[in-house]
Amino acid sequence: MFILAGNLLLWLLSFMFIYFIHNTTPTLAQPDFLSYYCENAANYSVNSAYQQNLNSLSALFTTNNPYGFYNLSTGQGNNTVNSVALCRGDINPDVCLRCLIDSLVKLRQLCPNQKEAIGYYDYCMLRYSNDVILGSIRLKFYVYLANPQNAMDIDRFNGALGPLMKDLRVNASAGGPLRKFASGSTTGPDFSTIYGLVQCTPGLSELDCVSCLEDAINRIAQLFNGKIGGRMLLPMCTFRYENYRFFNQSAAVIQPSAPPNLPPIARPSAPPGMNLSVSTQLCVNLCLIMKSIN
Ligand SMILES: *[C@@H]1O[C@H](CO)[C@@H](O)[C@H](O)[C@H]1NC(C)=O
Ligand SMILES: *[C@@H]1O[C@H](CO)[C@@H](O)[C@H](O)[C@H]1NC(C)=O
Ligand SMILES: *[C@@H]1O[C@H](CO)[C@@H](O)[C@H](O)[C@H]1NC(C)=O
Ligand SMILES: *[C@@H]1O[C@H](CO)[C@@H](O)[C@H](O)[C@H]1NC(C)=O
Ligand SMILES: *[C@@H]1O[C@H](CO)[C@@H](O)[C@H](O)[C@H]1NC(C)=O
Ligand SMILES: *[C@@H]1O[C@H](CO)[C@@H](O)[C@H](O)[C@H]1NC(C)=O
Repeated sequence: MFILAGNLLLWLLSFMFIYFIHNTTPTLAQPDFLSYYCENAANYSVNSAYQQNLNSLSALFTTNNPYGFYNLSTGQGNNTVNSVALCRGDINPDVCLRCLIDSLVKLRQLCPNQKEAIGYYDYCMLRYSNDVILGSIRLKFYVYLANPQNAMDIDRFNGALGPLMKDLRVNASAGGPLRKFASGSTTGPDFSTIYGLVQCTPGLSELDCVSCLEDAINRIAQLFNGKIGGRMLLPMCTFRYENYRFFNQSAAVIQPSAPPNLPPIARPSAPPGMNLSVSTQLCVNLCLIMKSIN
C-alpha cells in the first residue's frame, strides 16, 4: 500500500512515500516528524502503570552510550517500557538531545494511548514499546523518501552510487558496538559528487547491520532508480544519499570524549497526555543537564 503524503511535499521539497508492511491503519505524519507510527494493536489506559512508566521516560536521556545511542527499559513485567533512541552519527550531542526531547513530547502527543510508537526526525529517532526492541529485527514498516528528480545519466549515476553505498555499508557495519555510522562521497557522472550516509543501531551485530543495510540498499534500484536523492528509514538501520552535502563533515570524524557521567534526571511528573507546559518543564530539567555536559 502506497500513501502519497501530499501535504509534506512542500515542506520536504520532495515526494514522500510511506510503505507500511503492517496491516494496521497507519497514521500519517505531521510536517514536523519526517514520519511517525503509532502501533494500534496495544493501548494503555489512563493512570495505568504503563502510562506512569512512559511518564518517566525522560530518564532515557541519561543513557547516552556516548555516541548518540540511548536505551532504557523501565518498569516491571508486562508494564515494562522498552525505549531506544539514536541520533545521526554526525550530530552534536546538544543538538541530539534537543531532537530527542522534542521527539518524546511529540510522540506522546501523537500517540496518546498507544504502547508502541516510533518517530523519525532528520537528526534522530525515538522508539518505545511494551515489546522487546533491541535484539528483535522484526520489521514492521519502513519509510522512504525520494527526490523526484532523475539523474541525467541514470546508468552512470547508479554505477557510482552502488559502490559508494556498499563501501559505506562495510564501514558502518565494522564500526563496533558503540557506533555504526559512515558518511562519505564519490564522484558521479559529469563531475558531480554523490554524498552518502548509512547508520545502524549500534547494538546490532556486524552481520545484522550488514544484512539490514543490504536489504535496504538493495531496494534502491526498485524504489529510487536514478533519483538524485533518496533515503530509507528503518527501525534498525538507515541510509541517505544526495547530490549535495547534507551531513556534517567536521563532526563525522570527531570522536566524542568519555561518557558524560550524568546525575539522574528529576522525573517530571507529566500528566496524562503531555502538553506544552510539560514540554517546557522537561526542557528546563534537561537543558540544565545539557549545560553541565559542556
Ligand atoms: C487503540 O487506540 C486507537 C485510537 O487511539 C484505536 O484506533 C485502536 O483501535 C485501539 N486498539 C485497540 C486494540 O483497542
Ligand atoms: C500482566 O501481568 C499481570 C500480572 O503479572 C497479569 O495478571 C496480566 O494478565 C498480564 N496482562 C497481560 C495483558 O499479559
Ligand atoms: C556540525 O559540527 C560542528 C562542529 O563540531 C558543530 O558546531 C555543529 O553544531 C554540528 N552540526 C550539527 C547539526 O550537529
Ligand atoms: C571506508 O573506510 C576506508 C578505511 O577507513 C576509507 O578509506 C574509505 O574512504 C571509506 N569509504 C567511504 C565511502 O567513506
Ligand atoms: C541497553 O542498556 C543496558 C543497560 O541498561 C545494557 O546492558 C545493554 O548493553 C544496552 N544495549 C545496547 C544494545 O547497548
Ligand atoms: C497543560 O498541563 C497543565 C498541567 O497539568 C494544565 O494546567 C494546563 O491546563 C494544560 N494546558 C493545556 C493547553 O492543556
